[in-house]
Amino acid sequence: MKPFLDVLAGKAAARPPIWLMRQAGRYLPEYRAIRSQARDFLHFCYSPELAIEATMQPIRRFGFDAAIIFSDILVIPDALGQGVRFAEGEGPRLEAMETPEALKRLSGVLDRDKLGPVYEALRGVRAALPAEVALIGFCGAPWTLATYMIGGKGTPDQAPARHFAYQHPEAFQRLMDLLVTACVEHLSLQVDAGAEALQIFDSWAGNLPEGELRRWSETPIARIIGGVKAHHPSVPIIAFPRGIAGGFRRFVSETKCDAISLDTACAISDIRQQFPAGMVTQGNLDPLVLINGGSALDGAIDHILESTAGLPHVFNLGHGILPPTPIAHVEAMLRRVRG
Ligand code: CP3
Repeated sequence: MKPFLDVLAGKAAARPPIWLMRQAGRYLPEYRAIRSQARDFLHFCYSPELAIEATMQPIRRFGFDAAIIFSDILVIPDALGQGVRFAEGEGPRLEAMETPEALKRLSGVLDRDKLGPVYEALRGVRAALPAEVALIGFCGAPWTLATYMIGGKGTPDQAPARHFAYQHPEAFQRLMDLLVTACVEHLSLQVDAGAEALQIFDSWAGNLPEGELRRWSETPIARIIGGVKAHHPSVPIIAFPRGIAGGFRRFVSETKCDAISLDTACAISDIRQQFPAGMVTQGNLDPLVLINGGSALDGAIDHILESTAGLPHVFNLGHGILPPTPIAHVEAMLRRVRG
């Protein structure tokens, strides 16, 4: 019995299963302790023993209903031959690709050997997890990956990728095609290695106008879901198109995702009106209210529980947990959600 997979299959639970986006990471002292053992963040991701340990830490401490493999969305550009590094305290740095010519530096195929340690870590985590805890594999959506690949780093408004897509739509489409193929391959290999559900992170979908959202977010994600299901028809796939406001209903019907992860700004009280009956949802507690705790946290949790009562819902945050989050607040949240 896996409560998380039951809800993804459409069965409402008396108490929602719970996991948190970015549940492994710097808010945990035990993560900070092992993080210092690796030369840099990518080496950490590619060290199966460390990745297994980082994945298991929040499960041991909090007993979440799902584990997400410890890795990063930027392993795909790395395995396509674009140099990726994580400068300490600065976030990711890539060799920016601001012209169609620069895209030619990419290899046309995903380097599976480079990603081998990720699959090895998945097998190790599956063997170590309690039977009732599900294992999630993931990737970044092509649009979000492209924002880092073209900009060379995180950008506040994703302007480099947005300009590129307007100026060079054919070259941008070729990049999307390459990323769709890479994502299908990486997700399918994660399922082969033990992932029982998948999540596609489109963290930067929210800055796209309607037509671009369709072209660069919905269509590539629909192709990824179709491609993965051709190999693995029964694996549930969650999509996280962050910040698309009124666009969720169309996103769900265009992509055929099995569940939708709602960002913090999505009005959870009208999900019954927003989605077709039976739609599986996930989210959407504000990571900042979790930092603050107290009555604001209690009220925000109750609002989500009341709004989703009787619906197939997975309790989660609206975006990743942040490093300053007190562990006591995570514990208080778990007590309240579990009743
Ligand atoms: O616990 C988990 O959720 C699994 C691991 C995971 C990481 N990154 C580990 C990580 C997952 C699912 C991600 C996804 C990811 N990575 C996203 C999509 C989700 C989101 O938050 O929008 C994005 C955009 C990235 C790219 C990325 N990785 C950035 C921008 C950064 C720097 C910012 C930061 O949080 O430090 C990272 C680094 C990163 N990825 C860390 C972790 C634990 C911190 C690095 C460290 O420990 O030094």
